[in-house]
Amino acid sequence: MLGQMLKWLVRIALAGAVAAGMSACTMLGLNYSSLSVDNKPVASPPLTSGFDPATTRMVLEQELYGPWPGNLPVSFSAPRVIDAQYLGGRGTLEEITLTIGEGDSARRFPIAIAYPNIAKTKPVPLIISQTFSDNCSVFPNDPVTELGGDVCNGTNMTGAVGFLATSIFGTYIAYAPIERYFDAGLAYASFPGWSFVPDGNPSAQSVMATLTPDPKPTSALMAWAYGFDAAAKALETDPRIQPDAIAALGHSRYGKSALMAAAWSDRIAAAIAHQSGFAGAASSRSTTGETLGRMARSYPHWVRPGLGQELKDGLELSLDQHFLLALIAPKPIFLGNGRRDVWSDPNSTYRLAQAADLVYEAEGVEGLPDGTMRTFEPGAEISYWLRVGGHSVVSEDIDAFIAFMTAHFSPAG
Ligand code: GCU
Repeated sequence: MLGQMLKWLVRIALAGAVAAGMSACTMLGLNYSSLSVDNKPVASPPLTSGFDPATTRMVLEQELYGPWPGNLPVSFSAPRVIDAQYLGGRGTLEEITLTIGEGDSARRFPIAIAYPNIAKTKPVPLIISQTFSDNCSVFPNDPVTELGGDVCNGTNMTGAVGFLATSIFGTYIAYAPIERYFDAGLAYASFPGWSFVPDGNPSAQSVMATLTPDPKPTSALMAWAYGFDAAAKALETDPRIQPDAIAALGHSRYGKSALMAAAWSDRIAAAIAHQSGFAGAASSRSTTGETLGRMARSYPHWVRPGLGQELKDGLELSLDQHFLLALIAPKPIFLGNGRRDVWSDPNSTYRLAQAADLVYEAEGVEGLPDGTMRTFEPGAEISYWLRVGGHSVVSEDIDAFIAFMTAHFSPAG
């Protein structure tokens, strides 16, 4: 009897260890996303052709993201030329200082912009990227300015941290291969998303609370989305930029804010949302990967105050994220995914893209093409990209971003 009990105790302990190991594997990207979608829940509530963008924005603000801070004033400096012969004379590298807000609480930070030479004769499409790191690491060979005003002296992705970050999260997690964007006739602007509102708890809330005039953002994701809009406002009147061809690009947390920028801002003509995951393009109802509840508890400042606890207490959001995708219709969306990046849930992302397709069709454009999770059509209005590998920005992703941009906007050429 005692022997039997011991055996069971050992079995239970082993099962626990295996389960813990499996969940750790998911986080480390050792699992694969399922490619089957027909055997999974359909997006709910269903979208209808009578989709109402104004109500949807209101509900997403109330339930998930807090208000769009559309009244915050935006101003910007004249451009400073950093390098008139950038990349061996292939273009120019410039900077502006962007100011969001008013009075003492206004936030001021630099944005670097790389223009290909062709922009001198013909306006070009623009990618605005929010980066995790800082512009020193995005433009490691150039004296761009850090937040705070110091001039950069090379990348900050150095030493063991830099090595680990690029080994795990990819060569292009910080560094931007501008020559490849120039080859495609694209301009590229970059700033750390966190320079407007910091990516910290409670520092994000402290900064947001000081911003005037109302409505203040109450989530960093919404603030960062507004950061994209503000940068687009500063650059849309630049004669070198095609004002109707400005895309917001972000990885992961900034993929979430890139989608929101396209959904709330008329200035953002497309979203390149790479591995946006929960509160981005993954289903808030999905139990695969990180889950919305876990994200809201780990990063409470990303969403509106109190959401994490309320989800824990059983709150069910009335809308799922296909409503966010539908808000972007008919503008093009790129949804980047990695097969091993189960954490950000490529499978529910695809199912929500399928659901959002209805609103694209109602707008008279084809959204998600027929096919499977492996079908990549850069010219589709909902362009779903799935590659091997995990949560990272690698060379193939850059090719896919560029293919998407060139398929949708006519680059100078
Ligand atoms: C964490 C977080 C994700 C987020 C990611 C990122 O992994 O759990 O929700 O997308 O960071 O921004 O890289």
